[in-house]
Amino acid sequence: MPQLFSRKVNTYSRVTLFCALALPAGLIFAGSAITRSAANTNVNVPLDQPVPFSHKHHTEELGIDCRFCHPSVETSAKAGVPSTETCMACHSQIWTNAPALKPVRESYEKGTPIRWQRVNKVPEFVYFDHSIHIARGLNCNTCHGPVQKMHITWKGNYFFMRWCLECHNEPEKYLYADPAHPDMEPRQKAFELYKKNKYGQDLTPVEWRNLEGQPLKFDAKQVEAGKKLVEKYGVKTKQLTDCWTCHR
Ligand code: HEC
Ligand code: HEC
Ligand code: HEC
Ligand code: HEC
Ligand code: HEC
Repeated sequence: MPQLFSRKVNTYSRVTLFCALALPAGLIFAGSAITRSAANTNVNVPLDQPVPFSHKHHTEELGIDCRFCHPSVETSAKAGVPSTETCMACHSQIWTNAPALKPVRESYEKGTPIRWQRVNKVPEFVYFDHSIHIARGLNCNTCHGPVQKMHITWKGNYFFMRWCLECHNEPEKYLYADPAHPDMEPRQKAFELYKKNKYGQDLTPVEWRNLEGQPLKFDAKQVEAGKKLVEKYGVKTKQLTDCWTCHR
């Protein structure tokens, strides 16, 4: 009997079959192992850090923009944590002898980076990109909770798949515009509420809930406005729930 498939095809199909069976199992195993690690639990629990860095001090009270310390957040996948040089831009001149800042000075002198504990993390097999979310005007607090209130940083949300998908399924519920400034660039909008808060200006109800890290209320009017933004920004709604968007 002639061979139906060549040897090569046979090996190929065996490999594919193996992958098809092993990959989901591997993902689930890796997923559940990582889900239990520190960076994935501890929601609402501040982690021990080598320096008691306070977002509340530096952002809400001093009014420093997030992008001063996380400059890559708008342009790349990673937001990153600031280098010691960023801290020393100020702390070589102010609070130069504060005991709390000793590890910062040591790091600067020795040229060894500060080992911050990672607060937020998705498993290795998940692809996430900050820049696209900021470009659509989503505020940091939507995902990270009320950062400007945190003395020691905690994790604002479990980054479960179903949580990502809630928004990817219906992005119109989460995109918003300030009716007073309908043409403000979306990425600017993402940072505007911190400024408004700092200078005691009125916030829109959506901005207020975002700032507080509270779940949004979805009234018909806002969702209708969100649908217009989905169109205006050209959000690729069909691809948003595609597995390969986040697993590639
Ligand atoms: C003066 C510098 C500075 C500014 C300004 C700043 N951050 Fe940070 N941020 C840090 C440092 C240092 C860390 C690492 C230590 C920690 O987790 O608290 C950090 C960590 C974070 C983390 C957690 C990172 C992780 O490990 O998962 C988030 C989220 C974050 N910042 C968001 C913000 C947001 C939102 C703003 C603006 C409202 C902001 N940051 C402004 C310095 C800054
Ligand atoms: C733009 C200037 C500026 C930058 C940049 C800056 N700080 Fe500060 N920081 C200050 C000021 C001002 C204070 C004093 C706040 C107050 O009045 O309590 C302060 C206070 C602190 C304190 C509190 C000291 C104490 O004993 O309570 C720590 C810790 C600290 N900063 C860490 C950092 C770290 C770590 C970085 C870098 C990621 C950083 N700062 C970047 C201006 C800055
Ligand atoms: C759509 C949700 C979302 C938004 C909006 C968002 N983040 Fe994140 N952030 C995440 C996720 C998810 C991670 C974990 C990423 C990983 O493990 O690769 C993360 C990680 C971080 C980290 C840790 C270091 C890193 O780059 O992974 C910092 C710092 C951070 N975010 C800051 C910010 C700041 C500042 C903003 C607003 C300008 C912001 N994030 C907006 C979801 C978000
Ligand atoms: C609050 C809403 C919201 C949440 C939460 C959210 N996303 Fe998104 N995500 C969006 C929007 C809006 C886009 C932009 C899609 C577009 O414009 O085509 C996007 C795009 C993406 C993209 C596509 C990037 C690219 O280059 O094409 C990835 C990957 C992604 N998100 C991953 C995640 C992951 C992983 C999580 C959870 C940890 C998450 N997102 C949570 C709203 C959200
Ligand atoms: C918007 C981003 C996003 C999309 C789209 C997405 N996932 Fe996920 N997925 C995640 C995140 C984040 C995790 C890790 C957190 C968790 O385990 O819930 C995850 C975890 C998983 C896991 C590990 C098991 C587990 O629950 O821990 C599997 C398997 C998986 N995804 C399969 C899929 C498949 C199949 C699709 C398409 C139908 C898909 N994912 C679409 C974000 C996404």
